[in-house]
Amino acid sequence: MTEAIAKGEAVLLRQAYDKFVAEYSFKPVAAAAAPGRVNLIGEHVDYCEGFVLPVALPFLTVVVGAYNNSDECQVLSILGNGQEVKAIFPATTASGLKPGEPAWANYVKGVLANFPEKVSGFDVVIVSDVPMGSGVSSSASLEVAFFTFLEALTGTRVEPVKKAQLCQKAEHEFPGMPCGIMDQFIVTMGKKDHALLIDCRSLEAKHIPMDSTEAVILVVNSNVKHQLTGSEYPQRRAQCQEAANKLKIPSLRSADINDLAELKCLKCDELVCKRATHVVEEIARTEEVAKLLPQKDFSEVGIRFYQSHESLSKLMEVSCPELDQLVNIMKSSPGVYGARMTGGGFGGCVIALVKKEFVEDVKRKVEAQYSGSPVFFVCQPSDGARILKLQ
Ligand code: GLA
Repeated sequence: MTEAIAKGEAVLLRQAYDKFVAEYSFKPVAAAAAPGRVNLIGEHVDYCEGFVLPVALPFLTVVVGAYNNSDECQVLSILGNGQEVKAIFPATTASGLKPGEPAWANYVKGVLANFPEKVSGFDVVIVSDVPMGSGVSSSASLEVAFFTFLEALTGTRVEPVKKAQLCQKAEHEFPGMPCGIMDQFIVTMGKKDHALLIDCRSLEAKHIPMDSTEAVILVVNSNVKHQLTGSEYPQRRAQCQEAANKLKIPSLRSADINDLAELKCLKCDELVCKRATHVVEEIARTEEVAKLLPQKDFSEVGIRFYQSHESLSKLMEVSCPELDQLVNIMKSSPGVYGARMTGGGFGGCVIALVKKEFVEDVKRKVEAQYSGSPVFFVCQPSDGARILKLQ
């Protein structure tokens, strides 16, 4: 059985520090870390200004570095499999930055270009144990870790909501992914033992306590990534905006059941109606789960998890056979209250709310019945981005 185990801040920092000294022959002066995330509920609604309820994970991206007295930035990234990749690009004091090759460096360049101050040349090492391409926000983790590193390096601090917005803008402009605000927000503002209810319209957020003495969130990585996300995600976003435009409202956040009926009267495209139905119902479910979770009403939370998955699969059409299979296995597993896909979809992870004493049984059942190779971890709600001290 494969478990994903977080290495922890100290181990990753040591690895990054030692690599920096070996690579550049001097010591780093600034360091920062930012986590990955899972979303409990509120899927594909952040870009409609809805409510989302994500949790920061103990998996981290750590960045260490120092100025190098030049006009050039060197970024060495050590991937999960130990492979090293390097990118070199001009400092923002020297010239403007543009997206380009290598593609992975666009996350870093986008953040540098959006940092509120011009930064002269630096050398950097990045290490991360956030699973890549698994729908747990390795991209936002990299963006926010790098932004936080720039804060440590320059001494310029940016307030958290602004920071999340700048990292989101970086992702829109450089990798070209029109994401919502959820990932950058939770990665910046996560808190140990809490989920975060984010109002994506007002950008106000509330920490929701998560007590894991009776039930836990078991995360199962399906280990599949279908190459659809690139084109399908912007389409979903556009379809939701089309529904809002038809209703003459700024976003679907302001829509209710009557508006869904109205869309049908307006002879709105069937797919657009389906997407709008998902969004309106998912926003309501998310607000409900944020109330039910602290009351430990796990059965009611679980019902909403299953409803959310069904809706993502049938109305939003962002699931895939592997995720559907995992949720179905959960449905017939004793001790499981509910399960759903999490993140953008087309692969990645499923989360299940499970009675603590049943976790091992559930894992064994998934291992025996799932057609792919699952990787498991129990979600431990963790802290958001932070500057790290170097000795
Ligand atoms: C991706 C995006 C988020 C959000 C989710 C779906 O993770 O980055 O902004 O839209 O998909 O909930």
